[in-house]
Amino acid sequence: MKAYLLYEAGGPDKLVLGGTKRPALQSGEVLVKVKAISINPADAIYRNSPAFIAHIFGQEWPVILGWDIAGEVVEKAENTAGFEVGDAVFALLQKARGYAEFVAVNTELLANKPNNITFEEAAAAPMAGLTAWQPLVHGMTIKTGNQIFIHGASGGVGHYAVQIAKYLGAQVIATSSAKNRNFVLSLGADKHIDYQTENFWEVMSDVDFVFDTIGGETLEHSIDVIKSGGTIISIIPMTDERLKAKAQEKNVNLSLWGLQVNGDDLRAFADLMAKGILKSYLTKTYPFAEMAAAHTQIETRRTVGKIALIV
Ligand SMILES: NC(=O)c1ccc[n+]([C@@H]2O[C@H](COP(=O)([O-])OP(=O)(O)OC[C@H]3O[C@@H](n4cnc5c(N)ncnc54)[C@H](OP(=O)(O)O)[C@@H]3O)[C@@H](O)[C@H]2O)c1
Repeated sequence: MKAYLLYEAGGPDKLVLGGTKRPALQSGEVLVKVKAISINPADAIYRNSPAFIAHIFGQEWPVILGWDIAGEVVEKAENTAGFEVGDAVFALLQKARGYAEFVAVNTELLANKPNNITFEEAAAAPMAGLTAWQPLVHGMTIKTGNQIFIHGASGGVGHYAVQIAKYLGAQVIATSSAKNRNFVLSLGADKHIDYQTENFWEVMSDVDFVFDTIGGETLEHSIDVIKSGGTIISIIPMTDERLKAKAQEKNVNLSLWGLQVNGDDLRAFADLMAKGILKSYLTKTYPFAEMAAAHTQIETRRTVGKIALIV
């Protein structure tokens, strides 16, 4: 089968389209013919880092990256009840290997692709969608009318977070640059702040929740705008111990959330996509041959919504 093979860590040009063996199925797995994949900042971070690659693959080289896939079941091992050959599915892969024509996936991780969305829209959702879903649904207790402040609302994670927060009944204040204002408002945000021209900590206060996808000073100032007893969840590792002390002083719950690979969450997300409540916004779709261009785009940190590749 065709796959992008990474022989060594480095830039986008290190991803080499080549041939390799189809994966053999273990009990509980189906073989998915991949039709679309999506790219996240993590794809580029792992591509560039020997340590991160070793964390997943040990000493194995070359490796196949790629976490977000959508496609069609073409073969089944035993213990795969609930999924049949021909089913359209999507998944967040536990150990990557998605940049390929075929991938073996444990059915625990699979969700049926809703009929009303394309393979690209499905592939866009798992990593970014669940990174927004898990903190908002499992990490916060959002009630109707609560105010949530969402940073990076025009990005992959943020654009799902706005939609999820609205679904949960929150009033959403969201940041992006001015050029993405209309996009963020179109997602359902009630108020937009252009973080490049406004100091948000000077124009707002007493929000109930903050969802931070930026970190650093953005996170630090977020502690200034949340009410005592409020909750901030960041998805960016915190290196500054002062922030924890500042949050504690103000009686604010501050924590870091790391994405967990979880099929139940993906199936809950898929249900809302099927109902048209959650949508993937694809700013660009690339042919499989243009993997390097997709990686170069995600590294700009300016991607609006999501990007996907058709396999
Ligand atoms: N903890 C975890 O498990 C986990 C999981 C997934 C992702 N992440 C991390 O979460 C971050 C976001 O991921 P993503 O997929 O959403 O990235 P992305 O799609 O690349 O985000 C791009 C967006 O970020 C916005 N942005 C950049 N700087 C900003 C700022 N200072 N304030 C507000 N918006 C800003 C840009 O908007 P403008 O162009 O309008 O500025 C752009 O729309 C990444 O650092 C990623 O590595 C963590």
